[in-house]
Amino acid sequence: MNLDEIDKNKLPSHVAIIMDGNGRWAKNKSKSRLVGHQKGAETVDEIVTVAAELQISYMTLYAFSTENWHRPQPEVSGLMDLLVNMLNKYIKKLHDNNIRLLVIGETDSLPPKTRKKLADSIKKLQQNTGLTLILALSYSSRWEITEMVKSVAQECLDSQMNVKDINQHVVSQFLCTKNIPDPELLIRTSGEYRISNFLLWQLAYTEFYFTDVLWPDFNRQDFLKAIVDFQKRERRFGKTGEQLNK
Ligand code: IPE
Ligand code: IPE
Ligand code: MG
Repeated sequence: MNLDEIDKNKLPSHVAIIMDGNGRWAKNKSKSRLVGHQKGAETVDEIVTVAAELQISYMTLYAFSTENWHRPQPEVSGLMDLLVNMLNKYIKKLHDNNIRLLVIGETDSLPPKTRKKLADSIKKLQQNTGLTLILALSYSSRWEITEMVKSVAQECLDSQMNVKDINQHVVSQFLCTKNIPDPELLIRTSGEYRISNFLLWQLAYTEFYFTDVLWPDFNRQDFLKAIVDFQKRERRFGKTGEQLNK
């Protein structure tokens, strides 16, 4: 499969990925889980590069969930260090590829070193106009929705808003993904069929693509295959197929 097989006029504007299977990949090779995460980081580079090449507008990567804080401490700190190392290694390439960086999640709980590196990287890339890469870090959808409810309630208490004015648009504006279009395609690797607390509101009409490939083995070809699969789907949004094909 190559880029010619992709219909450039039917690209998903936003692809979200649950990058799963690093631990199992390492286990299969009798390596430590961190080796799996390191290999997974190389996959991130490959997939972000092809997304930028395809001129996809947004890509959200689930890199660390709220629940992942409950993993063994050495794995958690290893992942935090890996993130800093990755940003050091790839910042120039991200910039050269005109990629902008955003982060969603409870970033206050990240270690100061990671927070600083993220803030510096976001700043360096903020004027870029190509792919927007969104890292979900210390993110969970129930956390995000709870924060949204708190903010909306506070606006009402402060008389900035009337309860009757709350609608879907208002809700979206109080989520971390404010002003970012909903994902059109969600990919989850490693043969797990669940959402794991990712973008529950935003995935309402997203097309799901599951593959057994473990994230460290996932490559450009696998990504293109997912895009081609997406392009064959009929997205009806509640209407009938006949209405769409009129
Ligand atoms: C995904 O791989 C990476 C993170 C959740 C940080 P896992 O570490 O979950 O890999 P498995 O599911 O144990 O194979
Ligand atoms: C989801 O993967 C979170 C990330 C990919 C960062 P997990 O491996 O943590 O998901 P569960 O716990 O198996 O559902
Ligand atoms: Mg997993």
